[in-house]
Amino acid sequence: MNNVNTIIVSLFLLSLCITTTTRAQDADIYPDMTGKTILITGSTDGLGREVATRLGMLGAHILIHGRNAERGAEVVAEIKSNGGSAQFYQADFGSLDNVRDMAEAIKRDYRRLDVLVNNAGLGSGFAGGERRESEDGYEMLFQVNYLAHYLLTELLLPTLKTSAPSRIINIASRSQIAIDFDDFNQENKHTGRKAYRISKLANVMHTFYHAELLQGTGVTFNTLHPASRMGTTMVLQTPGPVRSTIDEGADVVMYVVTSPDLVGRSGIYFEQFEEGRANDQAYDEVARERLDKMTREILGLSVRE
Ligand SMILES: NC(=O)c1ccc[n+]([C@@H]2O[C@H](COP(=O)([O-])OP(=O)(O)OC[C@H]3O[C@@H](n4cnc5c(N)ncnc54)[C@H](OP(=O)(O)O)[C@@H]3O)[C@@H](O)[C@H]2O)c1
Repeated sequence: MNNVNTIIVSLFLLSLCITTTTRAQDADIYPDMTGKTILITGSTDGLGREVATRLGMLGAHILIHGRNAERGAEVVAEIKSNGGSAQFYQADFGSLDNVRDMAEAIKRDYRRLDVLVNNAGLGSGFAGGERRESEDGYEMLFQVNYLAHYLLTELLLPTLKTSAPSRIINIASRSQIAIDFDDFNQENKHTGRKAYRISKLANVMHTFYHAELLQGTGVTFNTLHPASRMGTTMVLQTPGPVRSTIDEGADVVMYVVTSPDLVGRSGIYFEQFEEGRANDQAYDEVARERLDKMTREILGLSVRE
């Protein structure tokens, strides 16, 4: 083989090493998840759907969630056809009462929950970027992406604690912008992009604040940016190119959900597989505490002194 051919073959072999994993390879890479119960919000589509299917093939019982019951049934059927088990919960996170009902139903149906993946989300292209309010009166992305997940996590925390060691994972994004507490409901100068970035920083701040509170409970709480501009519904609602595959993002979620390396490790913001640096406001203790207090007041939860 001449030098040029050797280089071509080497590059091909290297590309095989760095390519994303497929569902068929998962069993060789990730631990067996038999006996684990895992809730993935927003698993009727996109990233959540892929992760749900892959975790189902590793033996976990998957709680599928979304608004669309038809797609929910499809995902459950796909997991079952691969030999796994799953159940669908329908809830619109634009309604906090829907979140409360879903948490009640899950607590009624299951005594343990090993992993909660807070993944459901609306993107910056929702309603063409126009400001919409939830039925509870909050800016829609702030509610669906952040408030609803804060409430769900809080309501399921007793079950996660009795199932410890357990994991909570907030799917955030590297797209973040500081929250203006005087206008958290974004009545002024609203844009879809700003609303998305605020909600994603709130996911990170929620993680950092609660990872500290949960120290010593056996419940870890981490957050991550999966990949940039995967070709999912929310990305296709906005102009601009697709830059990553859903598989690339799913590999990151699979790692943070399953990796034995992360046992006992909490309060980390992952940018894909590396520890990343979030927006500065996430490291401001006063801002984190302020967001938490404000959130608990909004949600009618007891406020810590
Ligand atoms: N795509 C990317 O490049 C990218 C990059 C960074 C971070 N992320 C994050 O990754 C997560 C998943 O995004 P994706 O790209 O996979 O989005 P997607 O394909 O648009 O899927 C969004 C999921 O959220 C659910 N959902 C949306 N609105 C809801 C509501 N009001 N109530 C309940 N469920 C709702 C949808 O279910 P129904 O349609 O059944 O309601 C769907 O299952 C999001 O948190 C996103 O911020 C994505």
